[in-house]
Amino acid sequence: MAKNQQPGGKMWSGRFREPLDSTFEQWQRSFPFDWRLLPQEIAASSAHARMIAAAGILTPAELDKTLAGLAAVAKRPDAWATRISMDGGAAQAAQLDRQVGTALVASSPHAEDIHHYVELELTKEIGDLALKLHTGRSRNEQIATDMRLFVRDSIDATLLGLKNWLTALIEQAEKSGNAVMPSYTHLQRAEPVLLAHWLLSYVSMLERDFSRLTDARKRMNLCPLGSGAVAGATLKLDRTIAAAALNFDAPTPNSMDATSDRDFALEFTQCLATPGIHISRFAEELTLYATAEFGFLDLPEAFSTGSSAMPQKKNPDLTELARGKSGRLLGASNTLAMLIKGLPLAYNKDLQEGQEPVFDAAATIAGLLAVLPPFTRALRFNHERMQQAAQAGYLNAMAAATYLVHKGIPFRKAHEKVGNAVRFALDKGCELNQLPLADLKQFGEEFGNDFHAAISLQSTLDCHDVLGGTATARVKEALAAAKARVAKLQVSHA
Ligand code: ARG
Repeated sequence: MAKNQQPGGKMWSGRFREPLDSTFEQWQRSFPFDWRLLPQEIAASSAHARMIAAAGILTPAELDKTLAGLAAVAKRPDAWATRISMDGGAAQAAQLDRQVGTALVASSPHAEDIHHYVELELTKEIGDLALKLHTGRSRNEQIATDMRLFVRDSIDATLLGLKNWLTALIEQAEKSGNAVMPSYTHLQRAEPVLLAHWLLSYVSMLERDFSRLTDARKRMNLCPLGSGAVAGATLKLDRTIAAAALNFDAPTPNSMDATSDRDFALEFTQCLATPGIHISRFAEELTLYATAEFGFLDLPEAFSTGSSAMPQKKNPDLTELARGKSGRLLGASNTLAMLIKGLPLAYNKDLQEGQEPVFDAAATIAGLLAVLPPFTRALRFNHERMQQAAQAGYLNAMAAATYLVHKGIPFRKAHEKVGNAVRFALDKGCELNQLPLADLKQFGEEFGNDFHAAISLQSTLDCHDVLGGTATARVKEALAAAKARVAKLQVSHA
């Protein structure tokens, strides 16, 4: 049997006598997608080089040559990026990214994965010295490290994006002044709220998302390098050198866990699933509010599309796509959970399948957070229409019952009396505040001259004078507090 002479030279062919089945070989490669880990692989390889140099495996001159070679390999895609130059923008950047990736993958048809690619290219740069770099390490710890670096960068980008969106929501809340809208429970009109109060509810959701990601970042910021294939490096390495070079807080404490753990990737996607859900709710509400039936806002043309068939249409594609894309974030966290749950310790090749959902989730959230802040800033609400809706349909009934409570009536009875008044007004086809006192008196002697003022729109808002309530003064305070909190959110951890 001929010795395995496959072009490109495998990293592991010594014990094999037969070449790989070519279909299997192509199918098991991860380079077609893990090429995007090139910057992380170069950083991790450079850190490893420093660590083995400290252990005497590379001389200082060899270390310098290796680091220079790695830097040269890192620059390769820059050539394609300038050749395929575009004018910026998130979508174009993504397209550029894909084109560079395609060119990179085509340039190295035999690279099995990003680790193999860098070894092949480094050999072209510095010759056989490149082959020393793999001393004392395994691809199992390399991919674990590369993925941690990728996730950490994506967390930082997401934190920045969330802060931008939070800032846009706060600006919109400031702009809305004392504009009101109906709040809904069961999608039925409930009580009036300030538009700012509604916007601040999304601020609360996103602040939680921000804090979850910040927390996840602390937990995942440990360095697997030096863990070897499963049992730890076979050289006495000072693992703190690599950890410090990559800005990790410390080395991971257990080699079996470090080489097979993908909790950090799972947690990252889970931390994105929640903003995904919040984005989807926001998108759903705006899609609904932009209908002629609600008429609460006029969709910004710059973020809407037309219909090729119906000339009059202006469609909410942004919010629909946002709602749709949030599903990918939830999908990614499910995929990761399913992938990991049955794996025996330690590394298994199944883990290679965990990369694409992470890349997809990172790209999806980046795209969403690129469009949501400018879209949010461009929103123009129809204050008049929202106020009309807030004043029709007995949204002041709770305030009316509260009025009776202040007259000493137990709430259960007050509820009943106001319910009777609502029924009466429904039959007459008018609102509660259009009922004369004489009509109201039949439901309770306690209805007095001050009743109509107590159920005005302003009083209905202001009777919610409690921390977190929609009373005008409370919302003003809440807005100022949220603005101060958001300004202080820390996006850079480097
Ligand atoms: N491409 C592989 C992955 O993503 C790298 C690790 C390969 N390790 C191995 N023992 N085959 O998981």
